[in-house]
Amino acid sequence: MMFHVEPLTTLTEALFLLRIRNECRHMMTNDQREINHSEQAKWFETFYMQQDPMKYRVWLVKEKDESGGAAIGYFAAKEGDGGYYITEGVLEAKRGIGVGSFMLKTLISNENFKNGPLYADIFNSNLASIRLHEKFGFQKHMDVGNHITRFVKRSC
Ligand SMILES: CC(C)(COP(=O)(O)OP(=O)(O)OC[C@H]1O[C@@H](n2cnc3c(N)ncnc32)[C@H](O)[C@@H]1OP(=O)(O)O)[C@@H](O)C(=O)NCCC(=O)NCCS
Repeated sequence: MMFHVEPLTTLTEALFLLRIRNECRHMMTNDQREINHSEQAKWFETFYMQQDPMKYRVWLVKEKDESGGAAIGYFAAKEGDGGYYITEGVLEAKRGIGVGSFMLKTLISNENFKNGPLYADIFNSNLASIRLHEKFGFQKHMDVGNHITRFVKRSC
């Protein structure tokens, strides 16, 4: 399966992102609420499009042969602690076929992120995410409470 990455730039894409993010919300370590369309539209227009993209950026992954252009995964990088905190999500129906690996590989080979450090806060029960990050060189950094471990990759 071939995938390609596009930065999030339109409201339509922000609504694809919403669908994926809501499917993943129980694995999110910062906010597990279900988000609705109007909240997402407001976040996109009044926050995401207004801020510095080097501080917080989201990318969508699509299937190359998918004519409808619907996203199947997303990844994000947010500035913090001298590096970036990253997160990812894949539609349930598309997990386990390499989308997550494609996303992490894309992120860590990007010029802006290759000098690290990159951080990922992951629930201790989230084996798929732990394995995905360890596969790309992330190591346990510290216990941050609430059954969450912070992983770090120092340079790519
Ligand atoms: C974590 C997540 C992004 C992984 O994406 P994915 O597309 O399924 O990942 P891949 O298919 O590239 O698999 C990556 C590795 O994870 C491991 N993995 C995947 N699914 C797994 C599962 N259900 N259980 C255990 N390990 C699993 C595999 O070992 C795989 O490595 P391999 O290629 O050497 O076999 C995806 O499961 C997801 O969206 N989960 C919900 C949201 C989430 O947890 N996000 C991360 C928040 S920190």
